[in-house]
Parts: sequence; structure tokens; C-alpha cells
Amino acid sequence: MIPIFSLQECVSLAMVVAWVVLLSFCKADPASNREAAALLKWKDSLPNQSVFNSWVSPIHTNNPTPLSPCRWYGITCNNAGKVNQIDLPGKGINGTLENFDFSSFPNLVRLDLQRNNFGGSIPYNIGMVSKLQLLDLSTNSLDGSLPLSLANLTLLSKLDVSRNQITGVLDSRLFPGESSTQPKIGLLSLKYLLLQDTQLGGKIPQEIGNLKFLVTLVLDKNHFNGPIPPSFGNLSHLQILNLGNNQLSGNIPSTLATLRNLTDLRLLANNLSGIVPNELGKFSSLTALRLEDNNFTGRLPPQVCRGGKLVNFTAESNMFTGPIPISLRYCPTLYRLGLQQNQLTGHIDEDLGVYPNLTYILLSFNKLRGELSPKWGECRSLALLSIAGNMISGKIPNEIVQLDQLEKLDLSSNKLSGEIPPQIGNLSKLAFLSLQDNQLSGRIPERIGSLSNLESLDLSTNMLSGSIPSQITNCHKLRTLSLSKNKLSGTIPDEIGNLSNSLHDLLDLSYNSLSGEIPEELGMLSGLEKLNLSHNNLTGPIPDLLRSMGSLTYIDLSNNFLEGPLPDLKEYRTSPPPEASSSGINLYGNITAMRSCTETRSGERYTRKDKLLIFVVICPLSILMLLSFICIGFLAFRMRKKYKSINSLPFSLRYVRSKISYEDILEGTQNFDDLNCIGEGGFGKVYRAYVPGHDLLAVKKLSYESEMENAKHVEKEVAILKQIKHPNIVKLFAFCSREIHKFLVCEYMERGSLANMLKSEYTAKALDWGKRIQVVKGVANALCYMHHDFVPHMIHRDITSKNVLLDSKFEAHVSDFGTARILNPDSSNRTIVAGTYGYLAPELAYTMVVTEKCDVYSFGVLALEVLMGKHPGELIFSLHYSSSVESMHHKDVLDPRLPPPATQDVDDKLDLIMRVAISCLSPNPDARPTMRTASELLEKGGT
Ligand SMILES: *[C@@H]1O[C@H](CO)[C@@H](O)[C@H](O)[C@H]1NC(C)=O
Ligand SMILES: *[C@@H]1O[C@H](CO)[C@@H](O)[C@H](O)[C@H]1NC(C)=O
Ligand SMILES: *[C@@H]1O[C@H](CO)[C@@H](O)[C@H](O)[C@H]1NC(C)=O
Ligand SMILES: *[C@@H]1O[C@H](CO)[C@@H](O)[C@H](O)[C@H]1NC(C)=O
Ligand SMILES: *[C@@H]1O[C@H](CO)[C@@H](O)[C@H](O)[C@H]1NC(C)=O
Repeated sequence: MIPIFSLQECVSLAMVVAWVVLLSFCKADPASNREAAALLKWKDSLPNQSVFNSWVSPIHTNNPTPLSPCRWYGITCNNAGKVNQIDLPGKGINGTLENFDFSSFPNLVRLDLQRNNFGGSIPYNIGMVSKLQLLDLSTNSLDGSLPLSLANLTLLSKLDVSRNQITGVLDSRLFPGESSTQPKIGLLSLKYLLLQDTQLGGKIPQEIGNLKFLVTLVLDKNHFNGPIPPSFGNLSHLQILNLGNNQLSGNIPSTLATLRNLTDLRLLANNLSGIVPNELGKFSSLTALRLEDNNFTGRLPPQVCRGGKLVNFTAESNMFTGPIPISLRYCPTLYRLGLQQNQLTGHIDEDLGVYPNLTYILLSFNKLRGELSPKWGECRSLALLSIAGNMISGKIPNEIVQLDQLEKLDLSSNKLSGEIPPQIGNLSKLAFLSLQDNQLSGRIPERIGSLSNLESLDLSTNMLSGSIPSQITNCHKLRTLSLSKNKLSGTIPDEIGNLSNSLHDLLDLSYNSLSGEIPEELGMLSGLEKLNLSHNNLTGPIPDLLRSMGSLTYIDLSNNFLEGPLPDLKEYRTSPPPEASSSGINLYGNITAMRSCTETRSGERYTRKDKLLIFVVICPLSILMLLSFICIGFLAFRMRKKYKSINSLPFSLRYVRSKISYEDILEGTQNFDDLNCIGEGGFGKVYRAYVPGHDLLAVKKLSYESEMENAKHVEKEVAILKQIKHPNIVKLFAFCSREIHKFLVCEYMERGSLANMLKSEYTAKALDWGKRIQVVKGVANALCYMHHDFVPHMIHRDITSKNVLLDSKFEAHVSDFGTARILNPDSSNRTIVAGTYGYLAPELAYTMVVTEKCDVYSFGVLALEVLMGKHPGELIFSLHYSSSVESMHHKDVLDPRLPPPATQDVDDKLDLIMRVAISCLSPNPDARPTMRTASELLEKGGT
């Protein structure tokens, strides 16, 4: 009988046959078994993470299918069923490559693990995957050096290890040798070599010149030194060469100019010098040429835009002389041109053309002459035009003020004359306008009020006359307004109060002929930090500005004809005043006391007895920031001159604890590149600097604005403070007071400020109870040391969570001694109030006498803040006035983002911190403990 099968049975049978065939095929392939086992072994060595969910062995799943990794996530196999690609980019994977058995993947062609969190080093046995063509480990946390076994990867076409912590040198044995008789070894197939932003150093091996297929070579942001190998002239396919941000020296080899396919050449921020090859750009079509921040001399390469494709050309901060390159006259592709801070000569109206795409043009601080050309009105894309500090003359053409994309216009310090064109009101995107230090005359156009995006307006030091147009107050984003040193007359417009939401940085109307009374409305500028109305003809009473203008750090009303009661400093920046405070305080005396911080401004005279001439300057915290720390050494150190434009200025870098050169800092911060900026404060920016032998340093660069008028004072304080050495106080290494770059070099604190740690939920959780207890103790120790052990005794005066920094181990370090004072037993310690609202002791509302108990109070605020995870705010006031402090329980205030303390011991310590903090917050300074007592109490609780 012939068996009859139904259709259904047929299908089932076919499937069974298919399975059997498939199974036998798979079972016969031990290689994929080995690969799968290797992958599983690696997976098991890593923390459990969902990206590997599909990587499972059948033993766990009871799946009868034999082990094949081909369908696992991120794995690709070739036709023979062998793993040839592993692609797991950007999955945030944690772990190491330590247990990755490279020898199990003889067919691997592609390994892409970029943008994960792999740590540890690159294993030596990576040399076993000898068929590898692509290896991308970029953007991980790999450290150690590049294993020499990489030289085994002779088929590798792309090697990208950028953005890791790789150290050591680039071993020349990684690259093929010159002789063709020896067996071929080395990365001889490389087309793309990317080693950007690692810690590699040493010389760049000339053997790279033997990589004859190389198209892209990116070595920027490393520590390479020595010359650029002339052998690069052999890299005939090279298109991109980026060696920026290293410490390379010597000339640009002339052979580079012969590379016909070179389109992008970046050599910025090195120590390169000499003349740039004249022929650069002659044989190739450059799209980007970046030479800035070197020490090049001679002319800019005249052929730079000969190929007609140049997009970005920057060469600022060198010593280039001569004219703007002739090929730039016709270069329609130009997008960005940065030639500032050189010594270029010539006439801008003749040497520059019309560029439809030009967006940034920076020519400031050269020796350029000529007039602003009306034809620039055709550069319709221009967003930033900066030609400050040249010798540009003539009028501002109407065409320039019709560039409707313009966001920043800086024509300051030139010889411009004539009036400000009223059409300037059309620049609807303009945010920054500086015409200061010219010879502009006429009135300030009313239409300036149409600049609705304007944030900074500086028309100072001109010959402008007439009154201040009230329309200016329509610029509702204005943060900075300076009209000083003109011939302005009339009154201060009442409408000034309209700017209350924006005018926060500066209002400077000094050195004019303004008359009338100071409008009450000025007091509405509650966010303003600096106010200067000095040297005018203002009359009438002094409004009670300080009461409402709580953010002022600087006020100068001197040289006017003002009279009447002085500003009431009570309540200024403090918590509610205790009852005893108010009456009969001699504010006059206090104000003279304030002058101590402005000694250099002597020569002020109180001429009239009844008409009180006031001079109130509350030292800008930013200036005092400098008093910070220290600086000893007084080793004047002439540095190699980096920028010619600032060559003549005297400067010095003082060593405090360590030899660090000015150049180390410029290089370490990559010339204060924003990439290295790690924070910003009122005083300027903080940068991270990689300095050999110091790892990381923090460099606080004071902004140009934070003028340092009090240099002598700084040195005095610095000499005293230099000896502070305490594990909980940030170390200062050096201090530079050069005109252009003023900065302090300090220890780098990996975890930033306590305030920032507490702000984000993620970091606040990392700061567990144990660490928080340590932080409070650390701050207490630092203050105890300053108040009692260090001679002379010091008060910090600005203890806040912003000024406590944490290192990698969460250890607290007190910083920012900008406001610190010597506690002199002979003097009354009368001083102007400094410090931060919310941390100031209440007695400062009615007395100017600062004692160490003010620090104790601030410490109390800080300790509560650490417990609560946020500033205690109103709670402090309720402590002042309530008698139920005793009943308060620490559990009610603890930061809810952390789990409750796990042990009784931790719980007790937190309770102790709260009790100590409350006693520090007593409104009566005498009732507060000393820091010695507080710190001993905390330590005892810790044993
Ligand atoms: C890696 O670890 C971090 C921090 O522990 C965690 O947030 C992240 O989710 C982990 N990554 C993966 C893929 O699990
Ligand atoms: C280089 O590759 C060969 C062949 O794959 C292998 O036998 C050898 O061990 C590798 N060498 C290194 C240093 O990894
Ligand atoms: C230069 O680039 C062109 C076009 O991209 C290409 O045809 C030529 O082969 C390249 N020359 C060299 C030497 O790589
Ligand atoms: C030119 O610079 C801009 C930013 O300044 C950048 O986005 C662009 O990619 C650069 N173009 C070239 C060709 O380098
Ligand atoms: C720059 O070059 C000039 C002379 O060419 C030299 O005197 C000066 O020291 C160099 N400066 C730096 C910072 O290399």
C-alpha cells in the first residue's frame, strides 16, 4: 500500500527534514560553538546588562538548538556561519575587554565598541584577530598603552581609539618599516588613523609616513612634542591632517604643501614657529586651514584660497605680518575667517572681497587701516564682525548696519568718526554692540531701542552728546549698559526701571554731564551687580538704593552733588535683623571703613561738610577672589612671548608649591579653549589643565572685566596666605598676574562643588550618608585650622556649598579665599560685608565687625544643607525664633533622595551634626561654639 499523506502531514514532514538538516549543519560546526562560548564567557565577566539579553546558552533555556551566536544582538556571521562582525556602539556597556578571548575569532573583520564605558587596557591578544579591518574603541575609558601586538593587524584599514585615557608613546614598530625586503608587518593598510583626545605623548614617529594608503590622520588633543615628520610628504592620499592641541615645535615641513589631496590641515595650538610654506594651497584645494595659537612669523600663505574651496581659515594669535592673503579677494566659499591678534597690515577695504557665506570675521588687534567698505553689506550671512583694536577710520557705513543676521558687532578701539547710523535699529538679531573708544559724535540714535535682542551695549569713550534716549530701555534683554566717558547731558531716564528684569551686570554712566536727581526707579534694578554714576552733575538726595538693590557688589556715586542721608545698609543681604539692631548706627563711619578695600582710589576728598560726597564701593567679590590664595615665590619669570600683541606687557607667574610654567598652563588648557572649561563664576571661567607631572590642575582665569585694581593688596595677602597647608583646603600652585591672562592654578577637584553634587539627583545619591559625614567633618577641620592653628588666624567669610569642592574620594576641600581676612586682635575688623546671601550671620545686619563666629554661622548653614540636600532656607529663621528646637528630629530634615541611614551609628552621627549645626546658627554670636569645639564634637561622635 502506498501511504497517503495529507497536505498537513506533508508540511510537517518537510519541517522535520529541514530541522534535521539544520541541526546537523550546526552541530558540525565547532567553531561557532567556540565563538559562542567565548562571547558568553566575556558576557559573564561583565555586570549584568540588558544589551546582552539575547546572548544566552541553550543550557539555560532548555533549547535543543545548538549553540550559535549568529543571531545574538550585535553579532554578524559570514556565509560560513562564523562571527565576522561585532557591533555594539553606543550602548553604555560597562566592563573591560580583559576576558574577551580574541583568539576565538579568527574571522573577525569588524569590531565596533565605540561610545561605551569600557575601562582597563586594550589586551595584548588583540593581535590574534589578524583579519581585522575595522577597530573602533573610541569614546570609552580605556587606559594603558597601545599594545605592540596591533602591528599584527596588517589588514586594518581603520583604527580609532580616540577619546580614551590611553597613555605612552606611539611606538614606531606599529608602523611598517621602510625596507621592502623584510616581512611585512605593521599597520600597513591603514587608511584612517584616529587617536584624538587621549594621553599619548612623545614624538610622532616618522614611520607614519610609510602608511601609503593613509587618508585621514587625526592626532589632536594629545601631548605629542617634537617636529612634524617631513615624511608626511609621502602620504600622497592624505586628505585630513589634524595635529592640533599638542606641543609640536619646529616649522611646517615644506613637503606638506605638495600633498595634492590635502583639504583639511589643522595645526592649531602648538608651539610651531617659522614661516608657513608659501605654496600651501597652491596644489590642493584647501577647505580648512587652522594655524591659530602658534608662533608663526612671516606672511600668511598667499595661495590659501587658490583652489576656491576654502571654508574656514583661522590663524589668530600668531606673529604674522604683511597683508591679508591675496587669494582671499575672491574666495566666495569663505565661512569663517579668524586672523585676530597678529600684526597684519594693509587696507581692509582693498584686501577683502564679498563673501555670501561669510558668517564670522575676526580681525581684531592687528594694524589694519582703511575704512569699513559698504560692499560688506553684501556679506548677507555675517553674524559676527569684530575688527576691534585696529586703525580703521571713516564712518560706519549704512550698509553694515543692514546685515540682518548680525549678532555681534565689535568695532571698538579704532578711529571711527561721524555719527552712529540710526539704521542700526534694524539689526534685529544683534546681541552685542561695542563701539567704545572711537571718535563717534552726535546723539545716541533713538532707534537703538528697536534692538530687542541686545544684551550688551558699550558706547563708552566717544564724543557722544545729547541726552540718553529713553527708548534704550526698550532693549529688554540688556544686561550691560556702558555710556561712560562721553558728553551726555540731561537726566537719567525714569524708564530705567523697565530694565529691571535684564540689567544685571553693569550700568555705567560715569564721566558724563548728567544732571538732575537719581530717579527712584533706579532702585527697581534689583538684580544689578555694578553701578557707576560717578563724575556727573547729579544732585538731590541719595535714594535708598541698597535696600532694594540686593545684588550690588559695586557702587560708585562719587563726584556728584548728592546730599542727604546715606544708604541704609541694614537688612542688606541678611536675614531678618534681631530687634536690638536698628537705631543709632553711624553709617558714615562704616562707609569710611569700607574704603580700606579701595585704597588705590585715594585722592578722593570729602570737601563739603554738609553736602555729603559719598564714595561707596563694595569690593567686587570677583576682585577679592584674587586675594585668594597666595603666591609666594615672587620669582619673576619672563616667559617666551606667545602673542606679539601682548609682548610688551609685564607679567609674572609666581610659583607657590611647584614649578609650573606659564606655557604649561596655556598648553594644558589649550589656550583656554572652551572645551576645557569646567565652570564659570562671576570672576571668570575655570579650566581644566593637563600639565605633565601634575595630571590635572584647575585654572581660574579672571575675566577681562574683573579688573584687578588692587595688585599691591593682593601681594600682601598672598604673602601671608601662602603657607596654608591643610588636607581640607584647596592647594594653590601658582598665580599669574599678567595683563591678558590673570589666573590662579589650583588642585583639580574631580567632583566639583558640593553645591553641584547636591543639585542633581544622580550625584546626590552618590554622596551617601557616610560621605556626607566626612564632608561636614572636613569643612569643620579646615575652619578650625584657619581660626585657631594657622598664624595669623584667618576668617574665610564666604563659606558656602559652592566654595567647598570634592576630590575623587569625596573628601571636602575649602576653596575661594577671595574674601578671607586676617583676624587682627588689635583692629576692630571693621569691614564691608562680603559673603553670600543665605549664609551670612544675622549680626552683620547691624555691625560691620566680622569675627570668626560669622564663619561658624555659615558652617551651620552648610552642615544643615548637607543633611537636607538643599539650602535650609526658612528653617533657619524658624530656628531663630522658635523654642521648639529641642523637639526637632533629624529624621524630619534628612535628604529624601537618600535611603534612611542603615545603621544606628550613622544615624547618631547625623543627629550630632544637626545639633552642632543648630548651635552654630544661634543668633547670638557668643552662644555659637568655636570651630575648635564644633570640630572636636564632630570627631568625638565619629569614634
Ligand atoms: C553602567 O553603569 C552605570 C552606573 O552604574 C549605569 O547607570 C548604567 O546603566 C550601566 N550601563 C548599562 C548598559 O547597564
Ligand atoms: C599574529 O597573528 C598570528 C596569526 O593569526 C598569530 O599566530 C600570532 O600569535 C599573532 N601575534 C600576536 C603578537 O598577537
Ligand atoms: C586625489 O583625489 C582624487 C579625487 O578624489 C582621486 O581621484 C585621486 O586618485 C587622489 N589622488 C591621490 C594621490 O590620492
Ligand atoms: C567650519 O567651521 C564650522 C564651525 O566654526 C564647522 O561647523 C564646519 O564644519 C567647518 N567646516 C570645515 C570645512 O572645516
Ligand atoms: C616666537 O618666535 C620668536 C622669534 O621667532 C621668539 O623670539 C619667541 O621666543 C617665540 N615665542 C614662543 C612662545 O615660542
